[in-house]
Amino acid sequence: MLPCRSQRRTKPLGYADKGESTKDFNTLEDFNFKDKTVLLRVDINCPLNKKDLRILNDARIRSIVPTVRELMGKKAKVVILAHQSRKGAWDFIGLEQHAALLSKNLNAPVKYVNDVIGDQAKKAISQMEPGEAVLLGNVRELDCESVSAEMVVHAEAELVTELFPLIDYYVCDAFGAAHRSQCSLVGFQVRVPSASGRLMARELYALKTILGKPKQPSVFILGGAKFGDVPYMIDRVLTSGIADTVIVVGLAGNAFLLARGVDIGGASSKALADELTEENFQAARDVLTKHGQKILLPVDVAVERDGRRVCVRTGDLPTAEPALDIGDQSIAKFRKVILSSKTSFMSGPAGMFEKSGFEIGTKQLMMAMVESKGLSVLGGGHTSGAAERFDLADRVSYMSTGGGALEAFLLQEPLPVIEALKHSKVKFGS
Ligand code: 3PG
Repeated sequence: MLPCRSQRRTKPLGYADKGESTKDFNTLEDFNFKDKTVLLRVDINCPLNKKDLRILNDARIRSIVPTVRELMGKKAKVVILAHQSRKGAWDFIGLEQHAALLSKNLNAPVKYVNDVIGDQAKKAISQMEPGEAVLLGNVRELDCESVSAEMVVHAEAELVTELFPLIDYYVCDAFGAAHRSQCSLVGFQVRVPSASGRLMARELYALKTILGKPKQPSVFILGGAKFGDVPYMIDRVLTSGIADTVIVVGLAGNAFLLARGVDIGGASSKALADELTEENFQAARDVLTKHGQKILLPVDVAVERDGRRVCVRTGDLPTAEPALDIGDQSIAKFRKVILSSKTSFMSGPAGMFEKSGFEIGTKQLMMAMVESKGLSVLGGGHTSGAAERFDLADRVSYMSTGGGALEAFLLQEPLPVIEALKHSKVKFGS
């Protein structure tokens, strides 16, 4: 059984660019940050080029610029904390490039310190002047950051106990990670007065405004590499009726084909890496059994053969080459469903869109979202990166920096970061 578990607004939405509508938690207006040390948690987890580990798209970095600029302008000492990927993954790297890109977008220096709680980090913080910004190292270097726990537990974690004596305020602008209950996201709110940043407030406000009640028929397109989250997401959106149909593409689509008994071949299976656990696989089988025809899987895939895109029907699999995209028949089938929907939501690309010839699936599904008369919402770092690359970012109804966080929001699940910010307001006031 399945267990429970650019920032850019585009089509005019008819609301002012203002913050969260309730005042259950503090925002930047609520404190005087002058000369104070502020720990700012952001989500600048970016898609990287596998070959040279360069950042492919800096949309998430651009999205936090207003908050950083405002805090610097208010003469705070801004200590920025962030993660990139997960320990053990190929794109788990330090944040030097992120600091350089933030600095470029801010047009102000952002010093990078490749340390989180050690002497180097503490020294850098103690030497800061008002109006300066420092980005610390990848917070997921710390073991305590990979634990999911209650905020009171995290308030005792090493990260929090080492840093909170050095700061006056904690500001969270990491909307993309708001569904995670990790210590950098929920532990500090128990220790110091805290507020949401501009991006967090803006995302919540915009999403509440446009996604209060998604119109039916509603289709969810779930792709990307985080296959482990997908069966649970499908079960929740279909059981709750938020979605009428779910289309599964990308690496997640390959994994679902495998779960349906299709031999996708060793190369495609290998690309699924650590996500292909027995537990995830069983969850996919269960959700396929439970929801049957409401889950649409690719009927063909695209592989690279002699330097060309070649489509192979799933009945003709396996192939020696890995599937890099959905095939043309799948595209045609999925486009029809999307075009007749009143709400479409996409999180995760349909294929390796960075590679010429294999962007077609992702691009065509996004085009259908734009062409449909309904509301179109994109979420997640890779998806928004792809939309910018295809020049479609300005044509969808809303593009969120959150992937998993946006999904949790759509499912009306409490976001741990918001709960912790509320707790902080009750504890410390405004
Ligand atoms: C994301 O990209 O969805 C966020 O940065 C959270 O990353 P995670 O899924 O690795 O926690």
